[in-house]
This record gives sequence, structure tokens and C-alpha cells, in this order.
Amino acid sequence: MFAEPGVEQLAFMPSIAGARRFSRAMWSHAGLGEFVVADDDGEVVGFAWWSENGISLRDGVRAAVAGWGPPGPIRLAVKGWPRQLVEIPMPAGPKLFELQVHPLRRGNGVGTTLLRHVINMVGRGPLSLTTRTDNPARRLYEGHGFSVTAEKLHRAYERRTGSRGRIVMIRPAPETTGSSP
Ligand SMILES: CC(C)(COP(=O)(O)OP(=O)(O)OC[C@H]1O[C@@H](n2cnc3c(N)ncnc32)[C@H](O)[C@@H]1OP(=O)(O)O)[C@@H](O)C(=O)NCCC(=O)NCCS
Repeated sequence: MFAEPGVEQLAFMPSIAGARRFSRAMWSHAGLGEFVVADDDGEVVGFAWWSENGISLRDGVRAAVAGWGPPGPIRLAVKGWPRQLVEIPMPAGPKLFELQVHPLRRGNGVGTTLLRHVINMVGRGPLSLTTRTDNPARRLYEGHGFSVTAEKLHRAYERRTGSRGRIVMIRPAPETTGSSP
């Protein structure tokens, strides 16, 4: 994810170097229990991170301090306020926070493999995620049973990112088929 900074990192983070520290701190504060890495003969080519819990404001503040020092939370709020305008509350249950494949390794099925792995690990419950309205990854998610359940648009966000807003997508719990005779 740092080989090619994301649209929102470029638009809303005070610096990309700080964004790396911010993300690392966020992962370690929020817990890496559900972090899976795609490895090709010793080379990391992608990863996914999901969690039952949301990311708390406290985790965010601590990560911002790790990213940009004590003024980090204020710097992040000043640069990133339009991001808050399209924030959508996530439903309870497992959430997919990150799915990333190295830019040079995309289009080879790594993202699909990671997503299937997460779906299998989550098991019977629903799985939710949030992303930009214009993210081409929507097709990948739709192909795995996700559909859009909420959308929030804002011009201030669009001016910075070129994307109209954000969506929440949910993959419902798979139906249990058959019943005991
Ligand atoms: C989304 C992402 C993880 C997909 O990884 P990948 O290894 O390229 O995925 P796959 O090779 O398994 O392709 C799966 C499907 O993704 C779709 N897709 C994903 N990204 C796409 C893109 N940028 N352009 C076009 N199609 C894309 C395609 O429909 C493809 O289906 P197909 O094989 O039937 O054509 C990768 O593009 C990525 O890291 N993107 C940047 C980070 C990001 O946006 N993550 C999602 C945040 S919610």
C-alpha cells in the first residue's frame, strides 16, 4: 500500500511518510490478529486486514501522534476534514479494513485469493467493508456476494479525491441450507 500511496492518503494525510507510521501504529493498536499476508516465494505481494471490532477514536489519535508527533491529531483533522463528511457507520460484525496487492502484482488473482481466504475465515457471519464510490475493486466485491447498502456523497470530498463519496458494502451471512430430518 506504500508502493503506490492511496487516493485518500494523498488527499487527506499531512505527509506520506507520516501516513506509513500512522498505518503501522493503527494496526498495532487495533490488533493484528486477523492480518493475512500473500507470500510468493518469500516476497510479500499483498495483504488483507479484517476485524470484529471497529477502530476507536483513541486508536486513531494514538496513530496520528505516531505519524506526525504530538500535533498529529490536529494536523490530520485540519488536512482531512472532508473525509469525515462521507464517513458511514459500519454495522456490527466482521469488517474488512484493508485489501491491498502490490501494484506490479495486480490482475493475477492475488486479491481474489486473499478475499476468499477472509470470507472463509469469517465463516457464517456477514462481512462488511467501506470504500470509495469509484473504486474498481467494487467489481471484485460484487463478484463475491457483496452489495452496496449505504452511500454518502459530498462535494468537498469529491473536490479533493475526484470520487463522489464512499459506500458500505455487505456480504450477507450465507444461507444455511437443509435442515435436520
Ligand atoms: C483491489 C485489489 C486488491 C485487487 O487485487 P488483484 O490481485 O489485482 O485482484 P485479482 O487479480 O484477483 O482481480 C479480481 C478482480 O478485481 C477487479 N478489479 C480490481 N481492481 C481493479 C482495477 N483497478 N481495475 C479493473 N478491475 C479491477 C477485476 O474485476 C478482477 O476481476 P476479473 O479477474 O474477473 O477481471 C488491487 O487492485 C489493489 O490493491 N488495489 C488498490 C487498493 C484498493 O483499492 N483496495 C480495495 C480497498 S477496499
